[in-house]
Amino acid sequence: MSKETASELVTVRDYLDWANNRFESSDLFFGHGTDNAWDEAVQLVLHFANLPLDSPEEVLERRLSLSEGEAIVSAVDKRIDTRVPAAYLTGKAWFAGLEFIVDERVLVPRSPLAETIGDQFQPWLQREPKRILDLCTGGGCIGITCAYAFPSAEVSLSDISSDAIAVAEKNILLHKLQARVKAIESDLFSALQGEVFDLIVSNPPYVNAEDVATMPAEYQAEPEIALGSGEDGLDFTRRLLSEAAQHLSTEGLLVVEVGNSWPALEAAFPAVPFTWLEFEMGGHGVFVLTAEQLRRHQADFK
Ligand SMILES: C[S@@+](CC[C@H](N)C(=O)[O-])C[C@H]1O[C@@H](n2cnc3c(N)ncnc32)[C@H](O)[C@@H]1O
Repeated sequence: MSKETASELVTVRDYLDWANNRFESSDLFFGHGTDNAWDEAVQLVLHFANLPLDSPEEVLERRLSLSEGEAIVSAVDKRIDTRVPAAYLTGKAWFAGLEFIVDERVLVPRSPLAETIGDQFQPWLQREPKRILDLCTGGGCIGITCAYAFPSAEVSLSDISSDAIAVAEKNILLHKLQARVKAIESDLFSALQGEVFDLIVSNPPYVNAEDVATMPAEYQAEPEIALGSGEDGLDFTRRLLSEAAQHLSTEGLLVVEVGNSWPALEAAFPAVPFTWLEFEMGGHGVFVLTAEQLRRHQADFK
């Protein structure tokens, strides 16, 4: 069905089928919370029809108003014409089943760390963490999800970008967590001097220069500073490895995502015993190191 026939659409089902067909016949990339045209259509159509994502099947026959229909057609056109990820058009995304506010100031949440947090970092975490740092927090999805997983913990969300911190603060309020979650603007640990955490989790920028140059257009809509990290993607992670030990308690744990840059990390530090996590729901390139391992290998990171 083409743009021209959009005026014949009436029900939620009509709009879903139309959006799905348009997405399938377009040159889109699905990698920002969905991995196919239908799920992307559901995300956009239900949002602009003012319906929850977990709506029952009966809503398929609901007739939409003119303004709802116009909003859907406009969003579908924009998704195809500009290649902007759907989450930036709706202003929201889901991570570990929780809703987050997102916009172009932050990465669209999609880290496999959601699964690890759901498992409370078992079996790697020795004891319940009292202080947690989500380093490179973006909109705060990882740290806020940790706050749900560990209801007694204090959580710091840090990021070098003041824009990202503004979005993280909105999400702290959205989840009513301001009593024990705070957001801090900081380049790595610069604004966290003297602070010690039981758990540091990070999904930092880690895309290598070659991948940055060939990424699908959808990724160009995300903040540049959130993705690339030097020639081999490891500029930030090298700095993190050399400084993390000073900010971890004795039994503390560092958990870091480096995605496709994991072979380069292994090659750069062959003596370091990275433990690579496995994910049932997909994803790779997340390592765990204990505070003790980091301290033992300090010389490797200099
Ligand atoms: C891949 S995004 C991750 C965002 C979020 N944690 C998530 O998983 O959706 C990386 C984030 O690291 C931040 N960042 C980049 N360099 C940084 C630095 N030197 N210190 C702190 N944060 C940094 C970026 O601003 C961006 O928000």
